[in-house]
Amino acid sequence: MQPEKTSRNPLEDIDTVLVDEAAIKARLVEMGDEINKTYAGRELAVIAIINGAIIFVADLIRELDLSIQLDCIRVSSYRDETKPMQEPEVIDKIRLDLEGLDVLLIDDILDTGKTLSRVCEIFQAMKPASLRTCVLLDKKTTRSVDFEADFVGFRVPDEFVVGYGLDFAERYRQLPCIGVLKPELQNPPEWS
Ligand code: IMP
Ligand code: MG
Repeated sequence: MQPEKTSRNPLEDIDTVLVDEAAIKARLVEMGDEINKTYAGRELAVIAIINGAIIFVADLIRELDLSIQLDCIRVSSYRDETKPMQEPEVIDKIRLDLEGLDVLLIDDILDTGKTLSRVCEIFQAMKPASLRTCVLLDKKTTRSVDFEADFVGFRVPDEFVVGYGLDFAERYRQLPCIGVLKPELQNPPEWS
């Protein structure tokens, strides 16, 4: 028998809320509008980088009045730490053939830029008609490769954030807001 784990409301682990639920909702309407205008009259292939982008993409595509095809790619570069551990690696490929399609690649956060630039490289080789990127959050100051997203929700400071899809060790993704974890929880020896 596994020892029983205690559980608490994940909101209690947040030190500071950086972006609240109302601000996210309002910004998604604006971003949806921007994307609708950019692709007016076109069909769009939306590719979500999972797991981080699932909540954002689920809400954002419901602001779109375009015809869309949806697919996901799984890329790993973080383990259970708050710092990148390895180069981004595609661990689950997309099924759609992107050749000739207008592609919008969506991630939760643009940090070093390595994930999006790597996936863009892979997608460009598939000869899409166009390729743009969209992120909910942009940590402007932490780039290690030269990369900017076409659509950005919010700029955030260089802090490890969780919520609204962003995780720490796969936890906190369900939070409706984006916040910074209490410092003592950022590298817990063991969850208790
Ligand atoms: P990049 O390759 O450094 O741009 O990082 C992008 C990926 O790192 C994202 O898809 C996130 O999964 C993860 N990441 C970067 N910063 C954070 C953070 O503050 N909280 C949670 N995940 C993050
Ligand atoms: Mg992650």
